[in-house]
Amino acid sequence: MSSSRTQVGIVGGGPAGLMLSHLLHLKGIDSVVLECRTRAEVEGTIRAGVLEQNTVDLMVETGLGDRLTREGLEHHGIELRFGGRGHRIAFDELTDGRAVTVYPQHEVLKDLIARRLADGGDIRFGVSDAKVHDHESDRPSITFVDSDGNDQKLECALVAGCDGSRTQTRKLIPEPSIRTDHFRQYPFAWFGILAEAPPSSEELIYANHERGFALISTRTPEVQRHYLQVDPDDSVDNWSDDRIWDELHMRVDGEGAEIKDGRIFQKSILQFRSFVCEPMQHGNLYLAGDAAHTVPPTGAKGMNLAIADVYALAKAMDSFFTSSDRKMLDGYTETVLPRVWRTQHFSWWMSSMLHRLPDDSGFGHRRQLAELDMVTRSVAGRTLIAENYVGTPLI
Ligand code: PHB
Repeated sequence: MSSSRTQVGIVGGGPAGLMLSHLLHLKGIDSVVLECRTRAEVEGTIRAGVLEQNTVDLMVETGLGDRLTREGLEHHGIELRFGGRGHRIAFDELTDGRAVTVYPQHEVLKDLIARRLADGGDIRFGVSDAKVHDHESDRPSITFVDSDGNDQKLECALVAGCDGSRTQTRKLIPEPSIRTDHFRQYPFAWFGILAEAPPSSEELIYANHERGFALISTRTPEVQRHYLQVDPDDSVDNWSDDRIWDELHMRVDGEGAEIKDGRIFQKSILQFRSFVCEPMQHGNLYLAGDAAHTVPPTGAKGMNLAIADVYALAKAMDSFFTSSDRKMLDGYTETVLPRVWRTQHFSWWMSSMLHRLPDDSGFGHRRQLAELDMVTRSVAGRTLIAENYVGTPLI
């Protein structure tokens, strides 16, 4: 077994792991990222595509903004659609000029990987069987099999568990003695499509409709991303292109909106879950991103929350390496959990306001319409949505 050393061993090369490695590098701290997928798989996985202002600012400030600034589409509002009419949430007026940028997650990953490699960063793709050892001691290590099939051992001072919702690292925090998992499943899912079509709207449309929720989003001027609420047990095979467009038209078209059809080239079903584990650390192991929490996709917060975690974690690790001070590391969970739960609440709230509940007799839908009416009528209500949608500043 060959052995190597680094300061921070990072399990997982998604947004959390790669951004952590990048931020640590800027502070002069070495890390190695271990990722089980190939580079092509990481760069090709379709996920959400909305970056909070914080994420955009951090990318620009840390030298990752070139393509984002050129190709990202800045959005200054969203539309909440109900009762056949659109109601705009104007970010500019409600948040001191903050905005979001539509730029897909896999493009962020391409930028991060390119930048880490250009900076001499160490990312091992295609590794298997990564196992963390002795994370309760001050000499943790990670064993793994590299992409050539060789056994490797990585010794480090700190370990970051950034291995997504199918995490192995979370399991190292003993449950129930130390770790508590909070979990909620929803009775609906999203059917997502990518289509070659012109944009249907200048801004994203979140539509509440008796037939179920629909979301009109975008990727580029030529490619659009739309979603339909479906049953969690539904299958992609039940949905012909015609059926998808018919359903989108029924749920969204009306005063001021008309969906533009095109060739659908990608279809998938996304499950809805809320999950938080507490604490997000144990010994010298620190979890970040989906390894510690999952949010439902309404509001597109998943990657933004992962970035917020590692922003705080990189600062805490820096304080440990520069002054041997563990205070910030020890307080990591307490620092990030309030944002995690605020984001959980926002994603749950948007989901619950917009989706049709399977057993609704009509009361639930009318209650939602009243809530949407109350929220969009009031400046305070619109401000609450706008502030949370663009994201509160990083700490
Ligand atoms: C997306 O474009 O993929 C998207 C946009 C907004 C959401 C979720 C997903 O709330």
